[in-house]
Amino acid sequence: MSALQRCSRFNGVTARSTTGKWLLDTMKLRGSVIAGLGSYVPERILTNADLEKIVDTSDEWIVTHTGMKERRVIAEDQNTSDLAVEASKVALRDAGLAAEDLELIIVGTVTPDTVFPSASAILEDKLGAKRAASFDVVTGCTGFVDGMITGSQYVMTGGYDNVLVVAAEALTRVTNWEDRSTCVLFGDGAGAVVLQPDEAGKGLLGYAMDTQGFAGEALTIPSSGSAWPPDEKAIAENATKIYMNGHEIFRMAVRGIPHIAGLAMSKAGVTNEDIDWVVMHQANQRILDAAADRLGIERARVVSNLHKYGNTSAASMALAFDEIYRDGCLQTGDLVLLVGFGAGFCLSGAVVRWEKETPPR
Ligand code: ACO
Repeated sequence: MSALQRCSRFNGVTARSTTGKWLLDTMKLRGSVIAGLGSYVPERILTNADLEKIVDTSDEWIVTHTGMKERRVIAEDQNTSDLAVEASKVALRDAGLAAEDLELIIVGTVTPDTVFPSASAILEDKLGAKRAASFDVVTGCTGFVDGMITGSQYVMTGGYDNVLVVAAEALTRVTNWEDRSTCVLFGDGAGAVVLQPDEAGKGLLGYAMDTQGFAGEALTIPSSGSAWPPDEKAIAENATKIYMNGHEIFRMAVRGIPHIAGLAMSKAGVTNEDIDWVVMHQANQRILDAAADRLGIERARVVSNLHKYGNTSAASMALAFDEIYRDGCLQTGDLVLLVGFGAGFCLSGAVVRWEKETPPR
C-alpha cells in the first residue's frame, strides 16, 4: 500500500496519475520573451546636499565613493505596493494587456507593505488582476532577475501565458538616518516586466543563480522577523533598519559578478563579445566599473543610472533596463546580460535577447 493510500485524508483521491498527465499534456518547450517593460519613481528628490544637513557627509565623498548624486523618496501617503502599481500599469500598457489578462504576478522586494499578506497579493488586489496567482521573491537586490528567471519557467513550460514580474522597494523606510555609511546609498522605486511565450530559443537564453548564505550577516535588518521581533530595544538600537558591512559586500560583489555572469553566458552559448548591454544591480559606480573590466566588456555598455536613483535594491535593475528602453537604446535582437547581487548573499545572472520591435507605448 502506498503512502498516499495509507493516509485516510487522501482516500479516494486519484490526483497523482491525472496530475502527471496534466503536466505532460501542458508542458511545451517555448521561449519566454519580454512583452512589456515599465518603471516608476516617486517625485521627491533627496540630493547629496540634503544629506549634508542630516549626517556628517559631503557631496564630494558620496560622488567619489559611490557615484550617487540624488535618490527618490517615497511620499508619506505611498507604500511599496503603490510604487509597484504604477510600474505595473506602464508595463501592462507597453504589452497591450489589461490587468485581468494576468495569470501570475511575482514581486521581488525586501520592503513589502506587510510581511503578510505578501506584496504580490496586495498588488493583485490594487491592480484588479482577478485571475492572477501571486507570490513574492525575497532575494534582496537580485529580486528582479530572480523574478524574471522564475516567471520564465512558467511561460517556458506552458503553465502561464501572461506573467507580470515586479521589483519594488521603499528602502528609505528601513534606512538608518544616523548611519552615514548607509543612509547616503538608498532610494525608492519600482520596475515591471510582462513575460509572454514565443518560439523556443527566443527571449531568455540562459541563467545562473547562487547563494552564499555564510555571508548573510553582512547585509541584514537584524530585528525584522521571528528571531528578534521589533521591540523597544530594537528601535532604540536602530536594529529595525538596514545594517551593512560595506567592505564585505563590495568584495563579495566584485568577485561574484564575473563568476555568475560567466556561468549565465556560457549556459546561453554566448561570450562577452556578444553582449550589447549589461544591466547590473546599481549599488556603486566603482562596482559597475570593476565588474565591466573583469568581464572584459566596455564600461559604456554597463548601464548606470545610480547617480539619479541611488541603490533601490530589487528595483534598481528594472529601472536601469527600462531607462535604456525608453531612451531608444535597445534594438531588436540586442543581447542583454542581467547581473544581480545582494542580501543573502545572493548572485543571479541571465542573458536575454530583446525581441520587441515596437517602441515604448
Ligand atoms: N560621508 C563621509 N564619510 C564617510 C561616509 C559618508 N557618507 N561613509 C563612510 N565614511 C567614512 C568612514 O567613516 C571611513 O572613515 P575612516 O577612514 O576615518 O574610518 C571612510 O569614510 C572610508 O569608509 P569606507 O567604508 O572604507 O568607504 P568605502 O570606500 O568602502 O565605501 C561603501 C563605502 C560605499 C558602502 C562601499 O563599501 C560599498 O559600496 N559597498 C557595497 C555596497 C553594496 O554593494 N550593497 C549592495 C547591496 S545593498 C542591498 O541589498 C539593500
